[in-house]
Amino acid sequence: MPEVENGLLRNDVYRRPLETALSRLGVSSGWRCVDVGAGNGDVSVALAQIVGRTGRIYSVDIDPLARDGVASRAAEFSQVVAITQAAEDLLLPEPVDLAFCRFLLMHVNDPATVIRRMAAATKPGGFVVIQEPITSAGRIDDTAFSMEGALHPDIGSLLPSLVWQSGLELVDCWAESQAWAGKGIVSGYLEHLTGVDPGDSPVILPPLVTAIGRVGEMVNGIRGEIPSTSTTEW
Ligand SMILES: C[S@@+](CC[C@H](N)C(=O)[O-])C[C@H]1O[C@@H](n2cnc3c(N)ncnc32)[C@H](O)[C@@H]1O
Repeated sequence: MPEVENGLLRNDVYRRPLETALSRLGVSSGWRCVDVGAGNGDVSVALAQIVGRTGRIYSVDIDPLARDGVASRAAEFSQVVAITQAAEDLLLPEPVDLAFCRFLLMHVNDPATVIRRMAAATKPGGFVVIQEPITSAGRIDDTAFSMEGALHPDIGSLLPSLVWQSGLELVDCWAESQAWAGKGIVSGYLEHLTGVDPGDSPVILPPLVTAIGRVGEMVNGIRGEIPSTSTTEW
C-alpha cells in the first residue's frame, strides 16, 4: 500500500487524540509551531489549517523526501518552512508557541535529548506536546502487538516522567485508542501494518499517550506566560 494511504489511515485512527490535544491547547491563528519527525505531514497539515496564513509551521524530518511532501501539502494553508534536520539537533530560526511530535520518540536513540531540544525551541509559557504509543498494550484477539522495527515501541508508558524529567511542567497526560471488530478503519490500519487482515477478530489498537508539557522557568530561566491566544486554563 502506498505511503500516502498509510498516512490517511493513521490520520483517521489517531485523529481523536490529535484533535483532543490541539483543542485543549487552544491552538489558533498566528501560532508558530514545529512538527518534529513530520513524516508525510498529517500533523503539519492539521496545524497549518488552524494557524492559517498569519501562523507558521516548521516541518522537521531527518528524511528530505518526507520534507518535500509535507511542504507542498501544508503550504496550501499556512506559511511552511520545511527543514531537514535530526530531532536531536533541532534548531529553529525563531522560538515557537508549540513543539509537537507524534510516533517519533519510539524511533530515536535518546528520547530525553529530543524532548529537551523541543523544549529549548519553545517560548517560555509555550507547549511541548508528545504523542507516542504503548505498542504492547494493543491486542488482536487478546494477543499483544509488537513492533520489531522500533527502538522504543512502548515509550508512551514513560511519557509522564520523561516530560517532567526534561524540565517541563506536566499539565495534562492521557491515553487513547480505538477498538473494533470486522471491516473498518481499525482493521484497515492493522492490515496495512502487518499485511494480515484480522477478519472479525477484536482489535484494540495500541493506545497513544499524549503528554502536554509547558515550558517555564526551569527550561529557559524565565517564567513565561501562556500564549494570549490560548483558550485553556490550567
Ligand atoms: C512513523 S513516522 C511518523 C510521522 C508523523 N509524525 C506522523 O505521526 O504521522 C516517523 C518519522 O520520524 C522521522 N525520524 C526518525 N528519526 C528521526 C530523527 N532522529 N530526527 C528527525 N526525524 C526522524 C522519520 O523520517 C519519519 O518520517
